[in-house]
Amino acid sequence: MNASSAPLLQIQELTKDFGGLRAVDHCSFEIPQGSIFGLIGPNGSGKTTVFNLVTGFLEPTKGRVFFKGHDITGMPPHRIARYGIARTFQLVRTFNRMTVMDNLLLGVQHQRGENLLWGILQPPSVHQEERQAIERARELLSIVGLGHAVNEYCGNLSYAEQKMVELTRALMSDPQLVMLDEPTSGINPTLVNRILDYIRRLRQEQGKTFLVVEHDMRVIMNLCDRIAVLDYGQKIAEGTPAEICANAAVIDAYLGACVA
Ligand SMILES: Nc1ncnc2c1ncn2[C@@H]1O[C@H](COP(=O)(O)OP(=O)(O)O)[C@@H](O)[C@H]1O
Ligand SMILES: [Mg+2]
Repeated sequence: MNASSAPLLQIQELTKDFGGLRAVDHCSFEIPQGSIFGLIGPNGSGKTTVFNLVTGFLEPTKGRVFFKGHDITGMPPHRIARYGIARTFQLVRTFNRMTVMDNLLLGVQHQRGENLLWGILQPPSVHQEERQAIERARELLSIVGLGHAVNEYCGNLSYAEQKMVELTRALMSDPQLVMLDEPTSGINPTLVNRILDYIRRLRQEQGKTFLVVEHDMRVIMNLCDRIAVLDYGQKIAEGTPAEICANAAVIDAYLGACVA
């Protein structure tokens, strides 16, 4: 298998027990580079737990996680982030008393300029890194249509715009894999399309790969190339949106009638 055909993320037989409860049960899937992969299932089916296992917020009971061929199982979140995986949280975590730009610059905090010694010495390379970060923030904000809000306080933005700022912040470190926890939850349906367009453009123009945990079926069916379905922690189906819509086990467990 050569590098370009190898999956970006691979999870194998991932299992997580909370006491007597098996929240994730021998779950395996692969996410190809440059794809948008959806993870769906009823409430309590283990989606968020998978998400937390991949990002290092939880340690698996069994199973392995590989990113670009590296075994990242059980590594702490900051190390996994450095490999090139970024995440957002289901509930918005922007800093409302900071400007949009300052919120975005927090997304590159781990870079050299934040090191105390480098901060005191302020060599030219630090200034250059900061300039590059500012440029990147402006570029990303213009893609999302928030170019005008660079110096606005986050607290003055709508909830949907705050979610977009959070998504943009996750992209500041230039991750290869972006993991989104319900990116459109709590958002007015007319603004949902703006977020979906943003995700598509980031894939198309910047080659990003996405893992999207989502409750809203319309979002998932419209956005994803492939979908895995969880039920009681087990993967009961995987396929294209059309295949998932036609899958009897999925309809039984979850969908009822498929949404167009
Ligand atoms: N930290 C935890 N401790 C104990 N049980 C948990 C914990 N996190 C999740 N669970 C349980 O694991 C199951 C899967 O939860 P979760 O992954 O949040 O599901 P989903 O995101 O699909 O709604 C649920 O039964 C939930 O109550
Ligand atoms: Mg959840």
